Amino acid sequence: MKVLITGANGMVARAAVRYCREIGDEVTALTRQELDISDKSDVQDLFKRKKFDAVINCAAYTDVDGAESNQEDCFRANAYGVENLARASKAIDAAFVTISTDYVFDGSNAGFYTQRDTPNPQGVYGASKLEGEIRARNAYARSIIVRSGWIFGADGTNFLSVMHKLLADGKKIKAIEDAYGTPTYAVDLAKRLRELAGLDLPSVYHVTNPGEGTSYAGFARKVCELKGFDTELLESASADSLKRPAPRPSSSKLACLFSEKFGLSPLQNWESGLEQFLNEQ
Ligand SMILES: NC(=O)c1ccc[n+]([C@@H]2O[C@H](COP(=O)([O-])OP(=O)(O)OC[C@H]3O[C@@H](n4cnc5c(N)ncnc54)[C@H](OP(=O)(O)O)[C@@H]3O)[C@@H](O)[C@H]2O)c1
Repeated sequence: MKVLITGANGMVARAAVRYCREIGDEVTALTRQELDISDKSDVQDLFKRKKFDAVINCAAYTDVDGAESNQEDCFRANAYGVENLARASKAIDAAFVTISTDYVFDGSNAGFYTQRDTPNPQGVYGASKLEGEIRARNAYARSIIVRSGWIFGADGTNFLSVMHKLLADGKKIKAIEDAYGTPTYAVDLAKRLRELAGLDLPSVYHVTNPGEGTSYAGFARKVCELKGFDTELLESASADSLKRPAPRPSSSKLACLFSEKFGLSPLQNWESGLEQFLNEQ
């Protein structure tokens, strides 16, 4: 397949590029500097010059707290940028996969969110991603929306991806006990993104590693267990005590109603994914 991967410097994009190349795809991987998805005419020009069988959009404004004071930048990438890619994909008849987030939900459901649940984002980031979902599907009915959450992996700069390095340096970390999600290994997500592009069945999918999910503190305790770090380094915290600018759902565990019904094999559970990640560091 000829595949375009956007936001190529990002954590998920790098995993997707690696996976697609491994399976023999002809991959065009473009960083923000090479293709700003919010620049409509640049997107259109690219798609006039090059044809793709599938577009996997990994580009996004991902600074959840920064989004609260940079609403315009956030929507430019996450809503209008996604729409630009959807329209351009339609023009060349390519499959279009774009990633959304568990933060489209408000956290009032302590169980698992499925596609039957109505989004109600609490912050600007979540709102921009939901707007991106809507714009993608309105622009191109063939769009495949993949909601994921709590992603960790090599090249990641978020808390879940770097906490093992902090702990290895003997640094104390604050681990939130009262926020729950379903961790997702970027490598597993990347494979599923490509599978969904090949399957080409437009819908909203929830893609996370299976299991009961956990809290940030639970994730940190598992890191300590797997790496033999001292759990005394973990300082218990509540989400509120961190006083972060953006509101976040207190629980945003995701489950998919139909991935397995469509013949997609279950991903490994998050604990195995974490072990694999830590072993590869
Ligand atoms: N990480 C998570 O836990 C998580 C959870 C749920 C959903 N997601 C979603 O998963 C996807 C991948 O996230 P990630 O964790 O891989 O994020 P990431 O590491 O922050 O990568 C995002 C990439 O997109 C690029 N980008 C930003 N604006 C762009 C634009 N206008 N045009 C082109 N590229 C642009 C960024 O470039 P710069 O670095 O130059 O800004 C960055 O390289 C995103 O859609 C994100 O919303 C992530």
